[in-house]
Amino acid sequence: MEKTTTIIPQGDVERQLWYCEQVAAVTAQWPERPLAFVDTYGCQQNEADSERIRGYLKKMGFGFTDDEERARIIVINTCAIREHAEQRVLGNVGALVHVKRRHPEQLICLCGCMMQEPHVAEKIRQSYRHVDLVFGPHALWKFPEMIYTLLTQRGRIFSNADEAGSIAEGIPVVRQDKVKAWVSIMYGCNNFCSYCIVPYVRGRERSRRPEDILQEVEELAREGYKDITLLGQNVNSYGKDLEEPMDFADLLERVNAIPGEFLIRFMTSHPKDATHKLFETMARCEKVAPVLHLPFQAGNDRVLKVMNRRHTREQYLEKIRDLKSLIPDIVLTSDIIVGFPGETTEEFEDTLKVLEEVRFDALFTFIFSPRVGTPAANMDDPMPREEKLANFNRLTALQDAISEEKHRAYVGRTVRCLLDGLSDDERYDLTARTPGNRLVRVVGGRSALGQFRDVKITDANKWSLFGELIE
Ligand code: 5AD
Ligand code: SF4
Repeated sequence: MEKTTTIIPQGDVERQLWYCEQVAAVTAQWPERPLAFVDTYGCQQNEADSERIRGYLKKMGFGFTDDEERARIIVINTCAIREHAEQRVLGNVGALVHVKRRHPEQLICLCGCMMQEPHVAEKIRQSYRHVDLVFGPHALWKFPEMIYTLLTQRGRIFSNADEAGSIAEGIPVVRQDKVKAWVSIMYGCNNFCSYCIVPYVRGRERSRRPEDILQEVEELAREGYKDITLLGQNVNSYGKDLEEPMDFADLLERVNAIPGEFLIRFMTSHPKDATHKLFETMARCEKVAPVLHLPFQAGNDRVLKVMNRRHTREQYLEKIRDLKSLIPDIVLTSDIIVGFPGETTEEFEDTLKVLEEVRFDALFTFIFSPRVGTPAANMDDPMPREEKLANFNRLTALQDAISEEKHRAYVGRTVRCLLDGLSDDERYDLTARTPGNRLVRVVGGRSALGQFRDVKITDANKWSLFGELIE
């Protein structure tokens, strides 16, 4: 494979930190410490990107607020995966026109995948004139320079050139959580599934150097993080572009060797690249959580082919059988698209058969949403929306029954869980996660927040488990 990964020279990243200092010198003159509001849509990669934006903002002298009215800078990190996500963003950005009228000095910045779509950026340019800054994922590392320019000169900035993408190390991070952390191990995707916008907006696959990843995880472990997720659009193809190629299973093994009490998760995996070696490594590495998110999207081979998934239903099922034979209590989740152009109801029923055979613990289910620029957006799509919805409802009803049954099987068991948050339901004190990432609502033990503790599971429904902390 061609070695195309470009690492941004350290001096260039340092220059951005210099811009942070310049902005901090400006903000230090303001009567009050300025606040920033960072709003994130979409996947965990976007959450991880927002943590870097917050890292930069903090270095520029900003505090944080959830109140748009009090924010000197508003950053909206957008998602392009489905139309619904885009509509929500556009609605909220539209509403900001009133906020900015009350606070004309406010800077409104839009970033993320939507901004990398040329037709969206053009729409913002023409019709959302209160937006000051637009940048795509490729330009994130230059955020301080762009803010400095906006604060010292007039005008708007659009930085969303189409490129294969690069990697910037050394950007500061402000993490949102004290227990769980995301670590990007690679960016972009080379798969071009025919419905998916990601390869167009996030560029080609490029892997961070293993030493940079290991160093980040070591720091997290030292700081006491208990649940670390390695992130990438397709982590199974990690390392193919490195100077010294290394595969994902080897990386997992090396992360597992880092001292400390923490769980390792990873997402997302592509079935075509999920190997027996990976499953063996998962089984052997004690810190790697017994859970795999392995999207299969559709159960019919003709549909899979038109989706350009490059695996068949039988190949998928064979991998699952292999994995279950190595890790019998593996927790399995998947993504499914209903109503792909041309999928008939009979073909959709093959998806139901996969559910029955695999018996996933949970699913993320979506109705097909055409994305401008992807091949599927131009395919004939004769099925009426009502029929797609009816199929979608059949799918979720079947999965709800399976999830509930799987959850009920936990009742009476004692499971070592990570107590990861305060419960928003007053009947419970804490939320917790099983090693397989099932949600548990727990009575007792508020002081044990952030620790691994034994929880006796007392009840379950299709969404979650309920339990008591064992003192
Ligand atoms: N329409 C519906 N769902 C989609 N996904 C990706 N693109 C689309 C689309 N155009 C789903 C896939 C993917 C998940 C992150 O989002 O299931 O795995
Ligand atoms: Fe999209 Fe397919 Fe890449 Fe996943 S593997 S990000 S679905 S193109």
